[in-house]
Amino acid sequence: MNDVLQNIRARRSVRAFEDKAIPEETMQEILDAGLWAPSAMNRQLWQFTAVSNKEKLTALQNALKAILDRPDYGRFYNADTLVLVSVPRDYEHGIADSACALENMFLAAASLGVGSVWINQFKNNCDDARLRTVLSDCGIPADHVIWGAAALGYGKPQNATRENKGKVVYIR
Ligand SMILES: Cc1cc2nc3c(=O)[nH]c(=O)nc-3n(C[C@H](O)[C@H](O)[C@H](O)COP(=O)(O)O)c2cc1C
Repeated sequence: MNDVLQNIRARRSVRAFEDKAIPEETMQEILDAGLWAPSAMNRQLWQFTAVSNKEKLTALQNALKAILDRPDYGRFYNADTLVLVSVPRDYEHGIADSACALENMFLAAASLGVGSVWINQFKNNCDDARLRTVLSDCGIPADHVIWGAAALGYGKPQNATRENKGKVVYIR
């Protein structure tokens, strides 16, 4: 099996990150991999907002805590950096493009020894005023929505292996 295929198989979600910073060059490589993702008609309408500032991460956490009414909502598994992928609100391919960009970043991270996990709570809540204030403060345009985010850091996945349940039909 080649390196790319091995990397695809080796990536697993990490949900407990160490207090260890991701070097800036490594983050640049991960973000760059996202920029190389496919997008419908090559529009590339996304913005990737990488937040490693701990005060901003806590502000994002606190906004979600309040909105979700979940006092136990953690700071994104103690991620070193959270990448918020945002796209224009009315863009019909926003979800698909965002998912492609996120997967590219997950795989790039895995190849560089960085753990990752998708964070879904921004999807239904990014237009709540309590969260939008913090997002605006992070430079996310007011007409953008967030379909997914990547928590990144160093750590081990809980499940190193998994059973694949998806069905494949191959007609030849
Ligand atoms: C659309 C989507 C939403 C997800 N949301 C979350 C989330 O909010 N929190 C979380 O811990 N994992 C989340 N995940 C990660 C999945 O739980 C994980 O990919 C799945 O259990 C398979 O495990 P693996 O990534 O280790 O292969 C999400 C994944 C996807 C694709």
